Amino acid sequence: MTEILVTGASGFVGSRVFRALAADGHSVTGTFGSHEQRVPTAKGHTQSVALDLTDDASIEKAFRASWPEVILHTAAMSELRACEAEPERAQRVNVAASEKLARMAAALGARFILLSTDQVFDGTRGNYGENDEPVPIHVYGRTKLDAEIAVRRAHPAALVLRLALVYGVSPSGTRTPNEQIVTTLRSGGRAKLFADEFRSPILVDDVVRAILELLTDKTTTLLHLGGPERIARDAFGRAVATAFGLDPAGIDAVVLADSDLVPKRPPDLSFDTGRARSCLRHPPRSVAEGLDFLMRGASGADSG
Ligand SMILES: NC(=O)c1ccc[n+]([C@@H]2O[C@H](COP(=O)([O-])OP(=O)(O)OC[C@H]3O[C@@H](n4cnc5c(N)ncnc54)[C@H](OP(=O)(O)O)[C@@H]3O)[C@@H](O)[C@H]2O)c1
Repeated sequence: MTEILVTGASGFVGSRVFRALAADGHSVTGTFGSHEQRVPTAKGHTQSVALDLTDDASIEKAFRASWPEVILHTAAMSELRACEAEPERAQRVNVAASEKLARMAAALGARFILLSTDQVFDGTRGNYGENDEPVPIHVYGRTKLDAEIAVRRAHPAALVLRLALVYGVSPSGTRTPNEQIVTTLRSGGRAKLFADEFRSPILVDDVVRAILELLTDKTTTLLHLGGPERIARDAFGRAVATAFGLDPAGIDAVVLADSDLVPKRPPDLSFDTGRARSCLRHPPRSVAEGLDFLMRGASGADSG
């Protein structure tokens, strides 16, 4: 049994990892920010604690509630528009707090895993591998890249997992791209999705499974975790609609280049997932396999 601190256990990815680690028999402390009710109830040795990543004393308190052997740092300001609107807060939450947690982990000899993002790239090329140079174009991407750099400085053995677009079931039921598409179509609305924005979507269950595999793997320090295909957002939307028995004609393909979205979205954030495929026993599923898994209600069954 390992003592594990999961920050962001009330979030989409964090809640799923929290539950899976508890099901695996670990002693897990999960933190929440403003949504305590979204921390899952899980069997085994678990506790939830409040955490404010803008407050050093709160970070130290959460750390002392666990004295972790592993810190899995999922908590972040993860909304692009919120980061753009409050860049200083995004810097404190995403960068300064990550650095502090990594420094505390290093001092205790604990493993540190940081969840980062495909949004550290500018999206001009796509098929990004771990050796490609990140060039963020918005505040969220910049703060996540700065977090990677700060964490690496504080804890050179830390593992940075850059996630592609993650889909699946979230605690709020409204967080994920598939949930938003299904909600819109079921209410009779139309979903506008970019035909020229490409990602490598990954099912949250596959993120969880990879994290469980990598918990003790000290040989990897940077990994791109994405599904095996490069797919446009509108094509992903049509696949979701079809899988959920909804009419894919309800998806309107729109053009990223014509949009006035703030911040601007990188057009092609697809990943080269060769390293992940070679080091994971269970490489991530394709979109068709992932949606089928979701539809069968199997999500959460094999990853906690
Ligand atoms: N979802 C994706 O598609 C995706 C893709 C690439 C990378 N990532 C990365 O993966 C990680 C998890 O993403 P997610 O989608 O699970 O995010 P999420 O659903 O937005 O959850 C964010 C978590 O962080 C917590 N949090 C936010 N601000 C906080 C603060 N000031 N103090 C303490 N806790 C705070 C939230 O707590 P409350 O809700 O309780 O306030 C929540 O538990 C993030 O690091 C993100 O950058 C996600």
